[in-house]
Amino acid sequence: MTDKSAIDVLLKEDRVFPPPESFTQTARVSDHSLHKQAEADFEAYWAERARLLSWHKMFTKTLEWTPPTCKWFSDGKLNASVNCLDRHVVTAKRNQAAIIWEGEPGDSRTLTYYDLHREVNRFAGALKNLGVKKGDRVALYLPMIPELVVSMLACARIGAIHSVVFAGFSADSLADRITDAEAKVLITADGGWRRGKILQLKHIADEAVKKADCIESVVVVKRGEFKIQIEEGRDHWYHRLMDDAPRYVEPEPMDAEDLLFTLYTSGSTGRPKGVAHATAGYLVGAQTTTELVFDLQEDDVYWCTADIGWITGHSYIVYGPLACGVTQVMYEGAPDWPERDRFWEIVEKYGVTKFYTAPTAIRTFMRWGDEHVKKHDLSSLRLLGTVGEPINPAAWMWYREVVGEERCPIVDTWWQTETGSMMISPLPGVTPCKPGSATKALPGIFADVVDHDGKSIKSGGGLLVVRKPWPSMLRTVWGDHERFVETYFSRFGPEIYFTGDGAKRDDDGYIWILGRVDDVINVAGHRVGTMEVESALVSHDDVVEAACVGVVDPVKGQAIAAFVTVREGLEQEPDFADQLREHVGEKIGPIAKPKTVLFTASLPKTRSGKIMRRLLRDIAEGRALGDTTTLADSSVIEALKKKYEENP
Ligand code: WT7
Repeated sequence: MTDKSAIDVLLKEDRVFPPPESFTQTARVSDHSLHKQAEADFEAYWAERARLLSWHKMFTKTLEWTPPTCKWFSDGKLNASVNCLDRHVVTAKRNQAAIIWEGEPGDSRTLTYYDLHREVNRFAGALKNLGVKKGDRVALYLPMIPELVVSMLACARIGAIHSVVFAGFSADSLADRITDAEAKVLITADGGWRRGKILQLKHIADEAVKKADCIESVVVVKRGEFKIQIEEGRDHWYHRLMDDAPRYVEPEPMDAEDLLFTLYTSGSTGRPKGVAHATAGYLVGAQTTTELVFDLQEDDVYWCTADIGWITGHSYIVYGPLACGVTQVMYEGAPDWPERDRFWEIVEKYGVTKFYTAPTAIRTFMRWGDEHVKKHDLSSLRLLGTVGEPINPAAWMWYREVVGEERCPIVDTWWQTETGSMMISPLPGVTPCKPGSATKALPGIFADVVDHDGKSIKSGGGLLVVRKPWPSMLRTVWGDHERFVETYFSRFGPEIYFTGDGAKRDDDGYIWILGRVDDVINVAGHRVGTMEVESALVSHDDVVEAACVGVVDPVKGQAIAAFVTVREGLEQEPDFADQLREHVGEKIGPIAKPKTVLFTASLPKTRSGKIMRRLLRDIAEGRALGDTTTLADSSVIEALKKKYEENP
């Protein structure tokens, strides 16, 4: 598989798709002047973009850079909810649909900007009544329902820092994130729908709160008629709180650098990091890229299929699109419920024009067959986007031909939780696309491919870095600034941001992302730290040691292969591997379940005791073993290889 896709890239590198002329004619950006302007004076470029926001107090300083600490627009004051709502409801946008929401079971709701403004104000008041103040942390554990957007914006309105936890995470993962952020309020729902089944969110939240005693109040949104327990005094129904709340809450004027939110993401070692984003810079990045990369037009119906539990949903469902004032579709459930054409049914039903999804979804649709797509009228689509992992050229071509009907430009957008917004991407009216390449850095972004000493590589493979600060860059890791410096600004010194990705630059200067160079596994576009999965495995009583590696998976991009040593003398049950997979599912969440579990008496280690994951990767991907000379005991690896080949 690895070899095949590598050949794919090499063979087809020369395919180039210039933007369709008709697209360029009406595009917001139709030439290279923005790139040039930003190249000449990036601070002036970003200041101009920032002035498009609505400010309580206009900034006078653009950038203060004391590497690796940056401050953008620091003497300005603003509020994110005002930028997403208040400034629209004083115009004709008031009655325009902000969110057309489609529930998995087929129910739907439309919220106009005015509706959303009213809900957010009420809920901001409700949070105040619960004692939430500026700077407090609020954890959100909700399905994809409008109340999740309302909760985020209500926090932003009163200056509370939200921390959204993906609703697929387990009670333990939720508890860890709540505790790390020291959140005092948790907002959840009685349940949620996924593939026709109920997600027991409140039940999981109850388990988590037992371990997270910082939580004072739990707010429960009623999504269905799900049976739950209400703890008097601690738990409050969302709709009851709304009844007692004021109609309008004055937005808190926030300093540009005040934190808007934290969002946890996996690193190679240690616990998940609370990536912290600052109000103004983050909004500037999200609004600019939404507008330019999706080439927003007045009549757009935009749909990003990501979950708000990840950064994609934060930037490209909540803050970017609402700051731009678009009409968007939001969908609660699975792409194959009730049938495999659900996404295309939704595109047709609402006349979606801009569609943003992930390579793993595209590969899944490809596998399901063209008929589900072709059954529907997709003529409303004008642009397609992808994010989360490298897209193989074959999937890119399928997306272009079958979904885009060869009419729609594709924007392959590279970015990270830490970057806050898109960094490398085509501008659809200007940039010729090559299938599988995110193309070039956006205006104002100084991405570079460098060798191990940090020297630029003109053409060839290396490490991906960013040479200058940008507004939506993370400001710190919550509660651990050392880790921020260490992870992002030590590899090449404090001036240069290290992304953790490998990349290749071709002769035309196009960038091709090669994936993570650290021990992070990208499963279906989501980062899972090997260390977390290993800890979950070792937390099982029968397991003494575990090592996990990422292996190529045709649909999910990467899957997790686990190598596990159990306590000596234990009789293993035949389904023990499955039990362990379930165990990891409970500890972290279903996305972290290893695809394969191989039992081994010992793991390959260096003389200093470090597990050599590189060799495990060779085994799991069926390659010849790389350099084994630093192994403490080389018989271990040979035995393991043999065993793996016997039970792949
Ligand atoms: C990592 C960031 C950004 C939202 C979703 C994931 C990989 C992301 C692309 C792309 C190739 C990509 C990188 C990156 N990645 N987009 N268009 N092409 N790789 O956010 O969980 O912070 O993961 O996802 O490896 O470092 P995240």
